[in-house]
Amino acid sequence: MLDELDTVAQRADYTFKHNRNLGRHGWLRLTPAYSVKLVKNLLKGVPDDELILDPFSGTATTGLTAAEHGNRAITFDINPFLIWLGNVKCRNYTEAYLKVVQQTADKALSKVEGSLKREHWQPEIFNIELWWSPHTWKVLWALRDCLVKEFGEPAENQEDGLAWVAFCRLIIETSSAAFNHVSMSFSEGVTHHEVEHVVELYKAILCYILQSCASPFTGHAKVMEVDARNIPDMGMRFDRVITSPPYPNRISYIRELRPYMYWTKFLQEARSAGELDWKAIGGTWGIATSRLNDWKPDVELLSPALFETVQSIAQAESKNGELLATYVFKYFHDMHLHFSTLRGVLANGAELHYIVGNSSFFGNMVDTAELMSASMRRLGYENVKSEIIRKRNCNKALYEYDVTAMWHG
Ligand SMILES: C[S@@+](CC[C@H](N)C(=O)[O-])C[C@H]1O[C@@H](n2cnc3c(N)ncnc32)[C@H](O)[C@@H]1O
Repeated sequence: MLDELDTVAQRADYTFKHNRNLGRHGWLRLTPAYSVKLVKNLLKGVPDDELILDPFSGTATTGLTAAEHGNRAITFDINPFLIWLGNVKCRNYTEAYLKVVQQTADKALSKVEGSLKREHWQPEIFNIELWWSPHTWKVLWALRDCLVKEFGEPAENQEDGLAWVAFCRLIIETSSAAFNHVSMSFSEGVTHHEVEHVVELYKAILCYILQSCASPFTGHAKVMEVDARNIPDMGMRFDRVITSPPYPNRISYIRELRPYMYWTKFLQEARSAGELDWKAIGGTWGIATSRLNDWKPDVELLSPALFETVQSIAQAESKNGELLATYVFKYFHDMHLHFSTLRGVLANGAELHYIVGNSSFFGNMVDTAELMSASMRRLGYENVKSEIIRKRNCNKALYEYDVTAMWHG
């Protein structure tokens, strides 16, 4: 077995890296996103009348890939920014509409210089000076102000999103965040961007975004605000689930998304970031961690393997052992609630693919694929199997798996 694991590759083509130059898929990066190639492989041979579900949408990779493949797809998320972004990505746009966006943006851009003198709002981003120089964020704010006048606030007007996606890309391109690492570090010193440069950069980004919307696709995808632990009956039955839920590794999507979320006003204050992450499975941002201390499970689901895993973490020689044991337990508890409610919306014979990663706490391995499989079996899913698809990094113990199952309701 160990010899076999030695030959497993890291496969950057199965990660977000593969999506960077793939039109809409490359607009904004979310490090935990998976690759279009992986989803395409899972869609090979799937008839286009199959209805696809992704209960953990993220940047809507599944939804958009399924729509490009000719299928109908519904995806869920609890993060309002990702729901908005996913829907902007998954819409078909007419040539006439794209022209109007271009003209309206040109009008907004012509006013940026003149609006520089006005009072400016500062997003509540902690240590904002690490991201942008005071001059750059004033220019960005002036540009934002001009876009709001033409397109409305993105969080209020869900229709005209393309100009705002370009703005999100602009704020990251003008920042000093080194986006090559999930923990997000900063390059030394912030760059001072002149207004002409920022406007030209915005124009180039918008041009690339509008170009990537020029070819329509035959399928259809929509992102809905649904908590995957409590799925309502939508009068549809899904034939296939292709998804990548959060992993039990304490990575909060808020961390990477917060610059976008603050600048678009999907997030207005730090406390709501913690509240939002408390709703996210595996979330740990701000109060999402302190609340774990008082958290009580809704269902008793300790399988012997989960019990063992949680016990060993709790007994680790660390003051955080108990807390992280609760974190891991809550993660599998929430995933169990998800698998339970999911049964109500699956078609007979539905096929499931969950791309998940294992993790390690104080040297104790959390075998996500096995623990999830146990939950699925307990809930009546059949043919539950898991297969390693890639090594996550140079750490020999961390892998990504495709956990598959069938549902015969
Ligand atoms: C690993 S990411 C999905 C990445 C996605 N496959 C992509 O390519 O962008 C997991 C997503 O699940 C969402 N999520 C977390 N808890 C959720 C819940 N209770 N209900 C629905 N979505 C949730 C997170 O907001 C995040 O966007």
